[in-house]
Amino acid sequence: MSLEPFEEQRESWGTRGGFVLAAVGSAVGLGNLWRFPYELYDHGGGAFLIPYIIAVFVIGVPMLILEFSLGHFTQRAAPDAFARGHKRFEFIGWWTTLLGFVIISFYAVILAYCFSFMSLSIKGILAGGELPWAGEGLEGVKKAEEFFFHTYLGHKEEFALGSIRWNVFWPLVITWVVMYLCIFRGVRLVGKIVWLTVPLPWLMLLILTVRGLTLEGSIQGLAYYLNPTWSELAKATTWRFAFSQAFFSLSLAFGGVMITYASFLHRRSDLNNNAAIIAIADFGTSFVAGLAVFATLGGMAFVTQQAGHPVAVENVAKGGPSLAFVAFPYALAQLPYSAWFSFVFFFALVTLGIDSGFSITESVLASVVDKTGWKRSIVLPVMSVIGLGTGIIYITEGGLNWLWLIGDFIDGTWGLAFLGLAECMVLGWLWKIDLLRRHANDRSDWRLGKWWDYLIRICIPITLCALFVWSLFGDFTKEGGFLRDGVGDWILPNCVGMSIMILVPLVGILVSFAKGRSRGQGWGNALYELPIRGRLWGVISLVLAVVSALVVAILFKMAVDGQSEKTLLWLALPPAIAAVIISNYMVGTRNGSTAKASWFARWAGLLATADIGGFIALSLIYLTEQKDVAEQVVHAQEQLSGISYLILSAVFLLIIGGLAWCFYRALSTSNEKNDTHYPDEVGLEEH
Ligand code: PFF
Repeated sequence: MSLEPFEEQRESWGTRGGFVLAAVGSAVGLGNLWRFPYELYDHGGGAFLIPYIIAVFVIGVPMLILEFSLGHFTQRAAPDAFARGHKRFEFIGWWTTLLGFVIISFYAVILAYCFSFMSLSIKGILAGGELPWAGEGLEGVKKAEEFFFHTYLGHKEEFALGSIRWNVFWPLVITWVVMYLCIFRGVRLVGKIVWLTVPLPWLMLLILTVRGLTLEGSIQGLAYYLNPTWSELAKATTWRFAFSQAFFSLSLAFGGVMITYASFLHRRSDLNNNAAIIAIADFGTSFVAGLAVFATLGGMAFVTQQAGHPVAVENVAKGGPSLAFVAFPYALAQLPYSAWFSFVFFFALVTLGIDSGFSITESVLASVVDKTGWKRSIVLPVMSVIGLGTGIIYITEGGLNWLWLIGDFIDGTWGLAFLGLAECMVLGWLWKIDLLRRHANDRSDWRLGKWWDYLIRICIPITLCALFVWSLFGDFTKEGGFLRDGVGDWILPNCVGMSIMILVPLVGILVSFAKGRSRGQGWGNALYELPIRGRLWGVISLVLAVVSALVVAILFKMAVDGQSEKTLLWLALPPAIAAVIISNYMVGTRNGSTAKASWFARWAGLLATADIGGFIALSLIYLTEQKDVAEQVVHAQEQLSGISYLILSAVFLLIIGGLAWCFYRALSTSNEKNDTHYPDEVGLEEH
């Protein structure tokens, strides 16, 4: 039996470079220059690189390949791509797409800030170098803060929205118009535009880095950035931020961008190597951006000290919007040619962000078009207007608070990492993951082994689930309460944020019920006609998984109430491991067998991996509770320590060596590939 996985040749990128650059363009965005440096600074400096590198390379790259092969195999955007496995999974696709929409509505607002600051810098250049936020010493920092929060945003501390800031509204309109213009002609044009929007910010970043590193005092800035605070690694938040940042930065697991982009890829194109190139490029950009930012802050600290009104790096390096819109503009204003370099910085942010922004819009657009068959030319303007309209919430006087709150929830327990977990579990346990692996391998410069199946099915879900349970524990035991405060009153903004996170998948389920063009059960049907095997063992492993889940749940509740029960915890592990082994055996294809594993076995596997994740989380909770991680004074060092030099060299080696290896593989296989035959229906014949 052979089944065509798609009915028509879809629009395509044109060239491999067009696709790689578009995907890099989506990945490399505000997240790299604006978020990564302060995430790293806030969560342990160089120590943060450990969870981050694990998140990007051990989890991110395999998942990127997963999304690429899913999109490429089905030639559909996320919802339809999931529906191809089974109509029941379609909602996961909508969940990621709708979450993407929530993100683009505020991402566009931050881009609007960048547009405004870019135009203010141009005005500054024309006015002979005068910038409206420039000031000296700590007073100057206050002035820059005052400028951004009050003069520009009219920011109020309360969550009440207040009036609309028209000075932000127009840049927001410009942002949406620019995004519209980039994608309205389809992906072929996008494939060309990215030849400009990807290299240009890299050039800007290079200018900023060279400038930063050649400033006197830059090394001191780097000490803040890189000197590690190891104790941060014992905190759940550090790991969660590292994983969320990796997912956000790679445009993974939400928005469905990578699935959609791969669906436009030529049938013969490589998937595995492209994923590695994209991840390394993204990681490299983030790391270098951090060097540029902190070297410049170091230069600023030196200059202000010389001038007799010292401002240390820690006086300005705060998280949130402050780093990009207060600290950095302030630092540049202390240095020569400030207006020019401000322009370079904000121009870099705009060009970095715009292709990430339109990638989400494109993904939502493709999802709607795939489902309904409506015309792009109608859906895109309507969507842009809705996106702009939603963005208005964030450009009111209280808007920044909402922007920050929603951003926190997206990063939070139920956000990106959770969606990544759902994706891996569904594709790993409920679908035929080896089908996707073979699809990717058949056209890639290098091949994945069976280990990849286990990574997606077992290791990644266990890690993400551990993270999820660990964070959930953090939410439940949060000082001052999470949804209710100490006296039992609801904390309204948090309730709104939580409701959005719950509403998104629910709406996803509703939308997936709507009748569309999608051919839901694609080859699902074909698989159902096959005999089912492993019912008995499936039931046995499901029982084991449920027992383990009960133990984990009870111990979790006890931990929240402040009791730990170490010996009981060990009861949870053996049944979970047994269930994983049995289900994995059932689900994995056995030589010569044409049967399909029973649903019992698959759900058992899914639940049992979650149990092991829960077990690890509880162990970590007990462990860190005992040690009572002391809050350390972070980054007091003035000089780059020996270990930081080591970190610096190791990271550069990783980036340069990794890219060199990927390009070598691409070149050496492109010679062999010319007359290779690429089967599109991999794996289905065997049934
Ligand atoms: N990866 C982008 C960044 O780092 O700024 C943000 C992003 C783009 C997230 C696209 C999600 C997405 F679908």
